[in-house]
Amino acid sequence: MTDKVIETRKLVAGYGKMVILHGIDFYVLRNEIVTVVGPNGSGKSTLLKAILGIAKVISGNVIYEGRDITNERLDRISRMGVGYVPQTDNVFPNLTVRENLEMGAYTIKDRNEVRKRIEEIFEIFPDLRAREKQMAGNLSGGERQMLAMARALMAKPKVMLLDEPTAALSPKYVDLVLNKIKEIRDSGVTIVLVEQNAKKGLEIADRGYVLVTGRVAYTGPAKEILEHPEIGKLYLGLKK
Ligand SMILES: Nc1ncnc2c1ncn2[C@@H]1O[C@H](COP(=O)(O)OP(=O)(O)OP(=O)(O)O)[C@@H](O)[C@H]1O
Ligand SMILES: [Mg+2]
Repeated sequence: MTDKVIETRKLVAGYGKMVILHGIDFYVLRNEIVTVVGPNGSGKSTLLKAILGIAKVISGNVIYEGRDITNERLDRISRMGVGYVPQTDNVFPNLTVRENLEMGAYTIKDRNEVRKRIEEIFEIFPDLRAREKQMAGNLSGGERQMLAMARALMAKPKVMLLDEPTAALSPKYVDLVLNKIKEIRDSGVTIVLVEQNAKKGLEIADRGYVLVTGRVAYTGPAKEILEHPEIGKLYLGLKK
């Protein structure tokens, strides 16, 4: 089997008749962290949505574990092992922390199995255990992002697509969330990370993609992007 967990080939995608992505070649290898960076509106979220069947693929292909899943339905893609944490509205504010986790396990029928899984999740996110009965809407921004990731993990995904998990967080929480993502990868989950915080997002990554107006402006080892004399300055607000 191919080592590419997800691959897009010449992906053209958008919304209705509007084309946002103009032929994206992208892949993530098993157990990699791949970080996608780029200016606002460059199509980062759309790339994730096109992979997930939320945005419309006009031409090109999305391959998951060697299988063509182009324009497949989101719920089918989730069941195949692709987890997703959207940029916004990623928890149910009127449900408790525990209820949110239960919702994340909708693919697991056995109640005992769900309980066991929640215990495992609390081992990874000890702060959530203390807030088990609290409404998700009352969590701090950082706690909420932790819950959103925890909820996605409930379904035991093979790969997780994370859309700006550190947006609007204080620097302390940015590091906490990114460290947690590394831990999740180390536990065997492949990661695709979209990050506004280009420097920190690339620092934890193996490889990176720089998207500019729906095209891959640059791709390579994350370290290479961070140290590139122009890319960082031109597109990512990196000084250097
Ligand atoms: N549901 C939608 N319908 C129509 N256009 C959309 C939709 N969602 C996004 N767009 C447009 O697609 C383009 C790319 O948006 P996208 O959200 O992928 O960018 P992004 O790189 O994730 O930006 P940001 O860093 O601000 O999150 C933008 O011009 C946006 O206005
Ligand atoms: Mg976005």
